[in-house]
Amino acid sequence: MKRNILIHPDPRLKKICAPVADITDALRALADDMLETMYDAPGIGLAAPQLGVTDRLIVLDCVKEEGAAPRSLVMFNPVVLSSSDETNVYEEGCLSIPEQYGEVTRPKVVDVEWMDRDGNAQRETFDELWATCVQHEIDHLQGKLFIDYLKPLRRQMITRKMQKLKREMARG
Ligand code: NI
Repeated sequence: MKRNILIHPDPRLKKICAPVADITDALRALADDMLETMYDAPGIGLAAPQLGVTDRLIVLDCVKEEGAAPRSLVMFNPVVLSSSDETNVYEEGCLSIPEQYGEVTRPKVVDVEWMDRDGNAQRETFDELWATCVQHEIDHLQGKLFIDYLKPLRRQMITRKMQKLKREMARG
């Protein structure tokens, strides 16, 4: 089931999310909803707080080649174990900040550990876009948005645009 994505600014996007102890059927259903919502948007990543749920859960699929097989990853309690000194700059966006983009510098390679939907520990090294995306999504679990990396003036400008967008959406 597709769900509504919260739009910045929203206090629920600033919360620090709680670790998931047991992966219940309800959490697996939430992960399915997140994937459906992400693909529908379309986006390459989504974090539970963007749906108003403060659990440490993210989903991503950064396969972008036309016709390539999708690779959807569901990560409970994802943790960056190590990151490269080498950095990468990507123009990032966020489904909670529609149509706004900004360049963010992050480690180019990260080693990430998480629990999959069956509760099995997984570990993988991500590079390039996958690395940026997984770091962006893990930031969401700490209440951090990509605009927090931008200069204050740019961040304020984007926030004002989003406030205006939300007023327009509320009017319908
Ligand atoms: Ni985001």
